[in-house]
Amino acid sequence: MKTGIMSAMLEEMESLLEVMDITSTQEKGNRTYYSGMLWGHEVVLVFSRWGKVASATTATHLIIEHKVDRILFSGVAGALDPRLNVGDIVIGTKLYQHDMDARPIFPQFEIPLVHTSYFETDEDLRNQLKSAAISFLESNTIDEATKETFKIHHPKIMEGAIASGDRFISDAKDAEHIKQLLPDLLCVEMEGAAVAQVCSDYNIPFALIRTISDAADDNATIDFQAFVKEVATVYTHGILISFLNA
Ligand code: ADE
Repeated sequence: MKTGIMSAMLEEMESLLEVMDITSTQEKGNRTYYSGMLWGHEVVLVFSRWGKVASATTATHLIIEHKVDRILFSGVAGALDPRLNVGDIVIGTKLYQHDMDARPIFPQFEIPLVHTSYFETDEDLRNQLKSAAISFLESNTIDEATKETFKIHHPKIMEGAIASGDRFISDAKDAEHIKQLLPDLLCVEMEGAAVAQVCSDYNIPFALIRTISDAADDNATIDFQAFVKEVATVYTHGILISFLNA
């Protein structure tokens, strides 16, 4: 079983590469694909870069050239649901593209010619990710000072709909507009739905986990890089250890 692991954050990849037993690397299409063993499991790790095109081409390459059996995407997201706080974890179920709009030929959000406005993640992988996320939060790995800095108090896990689009949402009105159009959304990010579409086309199981880094509002960029480095990276590392060892 070969797992493709993608992240849109270089820092997350670097933290995994430090503990990976790398057997080969491939430079292709402006990406570096690292093949080898991570905690005893065969993986290919890659930094996808940001956005739907970058992540879709990376996923396609993982499937065609590296012949991965399943793909996991980990990263950060901006919360739309008011129940979510920074440091919470979201496991994606339905993945929409909030900037897909081929009206009047197709309804808003519908992916042309596939008769759907979202792709679903794989239920088994999703459940495994959820168990891994529960174990990680129970392990209380983030130190108190870091929790205080980012105001992480009682981090929780939610499962639900996520939307991707080629826009970093840093305006509360923008966030509200997306939420009004797609009320079941928990959060927004920039890659998941694109990878989900590729995985659906190739019939490859896919799951997605996101740590909430911001509220997709006017403060979204404050502390963003620091959050990724000090918190999201630790989450990804801790969750993947549990996931791969389950
Ligand atoms: N990833 C993390 N925060 C985000 C935001 N506010 N908008 C889009 N992608 C994000």
